[in-house]
This record gives sequence, structure tokens and C-alpha cells, in this order.
Amino acid sequence: MADIMKEGPINPVKIQDNTFRDGHQSIYATRMRTEDMLPIAEQMDDMGFWAMEVWGGATFDTMHRFLGEDPWERPKTLKKYIKKTPFTMLLRGQNLVGYRNYADDVVRAFVDKSCEVGIDIFRVFDALNDLRNFQTCVERIKANGKHFQGAICYSLTQPRLGGDVFNLKYFVDKCKALEAMGADSICIKDMAGIVSPYDIFDLISELKKFTKLPVHLHTHYTSGMASMTYLKAIEAGVDIVDTCLAPYALRTAMPAVEPLVVTLQGTKRDTGMDVRRLIKLGEHLEKIAPKYQKHLASAKLSLIDAGVLAHQIPGGMISNLISQLKEMNALDRLDEVYAEIPRTRKEAGTPPLVTPTSQIVGVQSVMNVVAGRYKMISNQFSDLMVGLYGQTPTPVDPEVQKLVLKRRKGQTPITGRPADHIEPELADAKKKIGDLAKTDEDLLVYALYPSTGEQYLKWKYGIEPMPDNVKPPAEVKGK
Ligand code: CO
Repeated sequence: MADIMKEGPINPVKIQDNTFRDGHQSIYATRMRTEDMLPIAEQMDDMGFWAMEVWGGATFDTMHRFLGEDPWERPKTLKKYIKKTPFTMLLRGQNLVGYRNYADDVVRAFVDKSCEVGIDIFRVFDALNDLRNFQTCVERIKANGKHFQGAICYSLTQPRLGGDVFNLKYFVDKCKALEAMGADSICIKDMAGIVSPYDIFDLISELKKFTKLPVHLHTHYTSGMASMTYLKAIEAGVDIVDTCLAPYALRTAMPAVEPLVVTLQGTKRDTGMDVRRLIKLGEHLEKIAPKYQKHLASAKLSLIDAGVLAHQIPGGMISNLISQLKEMNALDRLDEVYAEIPRTRKEAGTPPLVTPTSQIVGVQSVMNVVAGRYKMISNQFSDLMVGLYGQTPTPVDPEVQKLVLKRRKGQTPITGRPADHIEPELADAKKKIGDLAKTDEDLLVYALYPSTGEQYLKWKYGIEPMPDNVKPPAEVKGK
């Protein structure tokens, strides 16, 4: 065994479990129901996880839209069974758990309510890594005495770390800025699974030189590198990594916890976890699997998407491109779109490819190929080009911006914090939804998702019957 894993002080790797959020989001389109989490909830609490991710990302959206479940109830219910392990959620900065920037009053109310329902750790990120979009969330997280985990989206413009934009200095500077903002921990968030083992070794080693804050790594197995990446990150001193129980791991999800636990046994970074008990918990997920089988993407033989190693385009973005091209009867132009994406992305200021910028760049690239470059411009692309999402990593192309501004008659680009240009929204939402929103939680569901939120509230209060394909198969029994 390498000396580096034996010598020096004992320093167990801490494990965050993502089974109840990113795990089923990645392999089952976020469809896991609360009732299927409860049978193993208490045992999960006993495993010694640093935290359990239970909320955020697409859960809020999917729960009210497709599962007929009140999103606010999940953390409250789980908290009755999971009393020791802190809950963490993924928060898209000023986008909260939606797809656009919300006004500050909505952000404040949302964060306060999330603290109230049991969220202890907030992993905050912004698609552009523009920290001004963290500001309002962070004020409320801190005011509530909760843990602010600052996350930086890992992105590349080439197969390995480096180049003019996403180089070592870029990530180190962002992490320093997060520390200055009052972060309680720092997370490298690699949503596309593109961080490679030796690059993460360099990055974590560098971060460890200047910060005492815990460093957390989140990656996806998508490209096939993630387990190797964790091992090198652990050798470099990463404090916490995200995993899932084996049935919800690999593919486009996180690495599995069980092999990691055994790999580290007997080293100074031994997790101390009991692999037999973890395997037992996985058996429950196998048992409920048939219910969710139809959401499992299994069209391909390969468990990994090796293509992402070559072009850094996240898997979810590719499936969107393909369906968009199919609709336009232009699937034969996919290779041209692959070639167009880096060009359009550069003109758009080289945003990381994560929700929502991945879709914005993808859709515009398809339009550029099919209709001719910037003959058509999507509204979201236009917003991105005038600064409404925030500051892009590199300046946007001035010629393309000129085209955009010509269409937005008289508008000048925004250089300040985007949310400073958004009027308060809650009072207006309250007026529109009226008595259908009976609680502050209802009002937030509507404020975040006006059309599907209103539909959900009609189901919730029996104004309209909940369709059979939405209805939970059995009532969730509280404790
Ligand atoms: Co993720």
C-alpha cells in the first residue's frame, strides 16, 4: 500500500449519501416516492453519513408535478425517522429549485421555509459561477444559523483541466471568493462527470494549501472516471465525497459507497462504515425497483457515456439535442451541432454546461445549424447575452450581443446583480392565487411554479381529482 495512505494522522473520509436525491434523479428521473424511502430511513440514519441529501435539484418540481406529493412534506416526514444525520439540499442560487432568477423576496421566504422544514446544509451553486447570485440565499442561510456550502460548477473547454478559462487558477480563485463570503465548506460540483483523477489530485492539493474549510467533491459516474477520481481526491486530502447505495449508483449517478468503504479499510482514511449493513439497505432498493423500471434509461449497452470524454457535452444535454433535431426532422445534422456547440458557447461567454445554461447553449446551437447562425435567437439566449443570468466566465461576443440588443429595442446590457432588476413577486403571487394557497408553503409552490403549482394545489384541496397516474399508490404513513 502506498505510504501516503498509511502515514500521518487518522483522517476518516466523510460520506454524504445522495441516494434520496441525486441518485434517483440521475437514474429514475427523480421519481422515487417518499413512502419508498421510509422503510430504510432509520437504518440510513445509523450508518454514520456526514449528511444525507434529500431535497433540491429537480425534487421540488417532480414531486408536485408528477407525484402529487407536497414537496415541503418530504423533509418533514424524513426528519421523523432520521434524527441524527443532517439533511442537505441542492440550491440553484437565485434560481432556487426552478429555472429562472426569482425576486429577492421569494428567495428569502424559500430559504427561511426550507430551514423550518428541516434542511441543515445548503449546497448553493450558480450556473455561471457568478457569486452575486448567491448573495440573498447566503444572507438567509446564515441568519438561520445553517451551514452554507459554497459550490463551484466544474467545467472544461477541453478534455483536461487547463486552457484559458477553466484552469487551476479559475477554480482556486472561485473557492477563495466563497471562503470570503462566509462558506462553511467548499464543494467542487462536477455535474457532467468530467473531472479526471489526476486533475482532481492537483485541484484538491492546491485548495488544501490555502483553506482550512472542509473540501467536498461531487461527481457523476457518467464518463466512467468517478471512482478513480474519488481515490485520487482522497489521496490529495478531500474531506467529504458524495455516494449512493449500489443500486442507485454508477451510470449517470454517483459512485457506489460499498466498494469505496472496502477500498479504504485499513488506511488512515478508513470510513469506519459497515459494508454489510450498506448491502442490506441496497436490498430494499432492489425490491422496489420494478415500480420505477420504466424511468430507467437502458437503451444502450454501455453503462458509461465515453463520448463525454471527447466533447465534454453532458449526457442530458445530448438527449435534448437529439429530440430537438428529431422534431425539426434534422437528426442527420447532429455532427454539425456537436461542432457548433463550442463556437456558440464561446460567443455566449463560455458558460459552464449545467442547468439552465446547457439547454440555452444547446437550443441555440441547433437553431444556428438548422436556420443559419443567429437567424433565430431564443429568448433565454437573448437574456444570457444581456447579462440577465449574471456575469459569464468570459465576455460575450460583441457582434452577437449587438444583434441581440437590436431586437430588444433600446435595452442596454445589465452589469450589476441580476436580481436587482427583478421586482418583488410574492404579494402579486398571493393576489393571483388567492384562497387556493392556504399556507406560506402553498404560496411558494405557486410562486415558483405558477402553472403546475396551481394545478397541484387544486389536487391537494380536492378542487380537481388527482389523475390516477399521479396519485400515490398508498398513503404515506407518518410516525
Ligand atoms: Co449531481
